[in-house]
Amino acid sequence: MSFEVPRRALLWGGATSASQYEGGSDMVGKGPDTQDVRPFRPRTSKATTETRLLTKRMVNEALDSGFNGNYPFRRGTEGISHCEEDVALLEDLGIDIYRFSISWARLYPTGHERNPSPEGVAYYDKVFRLVRKAGMRVFLTLTHYAMPIDLVLSDGGWLNRSTIDCYLRFAEFVFTRWGKYIDYYLPFNEINAGYFSPWNGVGLLKPEEGPYDQSKVFQSLHNQFVASAQVIQLQRRIAPTCKSGCMVADFCYYANTPSPEDNLKLVKDEQISQWLAVDVLARGFYPSYTARFFDERGIKIRMGENDLELLAHNTCDFVSISYYQSSVVSCGDDGPQTAGNLVCSTVNPYLASSEWGWQIDPVGLRTALNVLYDRVHKPIFVAEGGLGARDRLVVSKDEKRVHDARRIEYLSEHFKQVIEAQKDGVDVLGYIVWGIIDIVSAGSCEMEKRYGVVYVDADDEGNGSYERTRKDSFWWYKKFIQDYHQREKPASE
Ligand code: BG6
Repeated sequence: MSFEVPRRALLWGGATSASQYEGGSDMVGKGPDTQDVRPFRPRTSKATTETRLLTKRMVNEALDSGFNGNYPFRRGTEGISHCEEDVALLEDLGIDIYRFSISWARLYPTGHERNPSPEGVAYYDKVFRLVRKAGMRVFLTLTHYAMPIDLVLSDGGWLNRSTIDCYLRFAEFVFTRWGKYIDYYLPFNEINAGYFSPWNGVGLLKPEEGPYDQSKVFQSLHNQFVASAQVIQLQRRIAPTCKSGCMVADFCYYANTPSPEDNLKLVKDEQISQWLAVDVLARGFYPSYTARFFDERGIKIRMGENDLELLAHNTCDFVSISYYQSSVVSCGDDGPQTAGNLVCSTVNPYLASSEWGWQIDPVGLRTALNVLYDRVHKPIFVAEGGLGARDRLVVSKDEKRVHDARRIEYLSEHFKQVIEAQKDGVDVLGYIVWGIIDIVSAGSCEMEKRYGVVYVDADDEGNGSYERTRKDSFWWYKKFIQDYHQREKPASE
């Protein structure tokens, strides 16, 4: 009997998502999607929530006015027009793997078409070709928050099972055409976002007054679980070499005090916010803790006759997480709260914070990886992580520089903990740096908050040249990868 996990060289990567990066919303063949309609709001305490949880009124305002106003996702950071240059930058950086997503509405403008838009197909043909030619592996996210707006307005988003059929048509095309280029993929980015952020996650309109109906939220999530399993089933038939994953935002919860009540709250919060999706998608069943949670809230999931069997037989090959920060759970109303893109929590006095108030916790990443691996015993990818910070472009006579020492420190500390987790016995596949080229923030629609090792000259109002400049972290990351692979050669599979 062996206690060893496969010892692999970790893959180091970079990621973008279509809506935050590509732009080109006016390109022929692209339909408006759920990110296009999110307006920028100058930062106030409520701005992030307002632009993240959209009501019908806000969606109509965007569509009826022909997007009159500041809608940053329509321009992203002009990825489409910089595609060649950006892939060349990533090649120079030397990453092993590039994570990107496909814009569903660029292929299927309303989601209902039988065939994809030729312009959209031509664009992704080019992206796959460039990335493979540059020697990078592909980590594909089929949908990263954005879905065609028509599927929300006429079908009700993921609440309606008919969305599954439209999605499968999209997925089938992707695997038939590009399956041979894809190494790892996710049917959905951070699937637990549907619970925290139902507009982005499951395409549910927020009622004009009051909170979301939780029955609708969990029904929509169930439909995404079914869609994930069906995508895996079809991918295994069409493109069997791709590795399928699921992904959750991981918060590495701590109890605020050692009180039994805080500890129990931690367990209960964690079950629903973090483990539910992992248990269904990686272990293949609805865990027993959901029964009481659903009963007490009057939530009844309408299941198809074969849903549970489908879920049991089509679990994913690997699990992935995004990890930016840890969280503190408390039963009481315990003083100051931290900020975050999906959840806010009690401040942890042992940790420093980013300029946006996200608490920085590299050791938490090692803990999170250990805990998750104990639960799933499947390989784990850190599919996202990084530091959102303000950067300043320093222009001198003959060069442009961005000195982002804090990002270097953040990445360096997190990388060390990933390597430690691997030594702990966790089967880690790699770490992917989020927003490797600066992109629009998904939480707050800002440009001011940047994650990249490549700077893009643009501001919150869309002013700027959109020119690319390598930051100090670019040179640091490049050297880190080179040094690492001198010691550990990446596997050829
Ligand atoms: C993750 C999302 O939750 O967090 C990304 O998958 C997002 O799309 C990232 O950009 C960072 O959040 P934010 O709000 O700072 O962009």
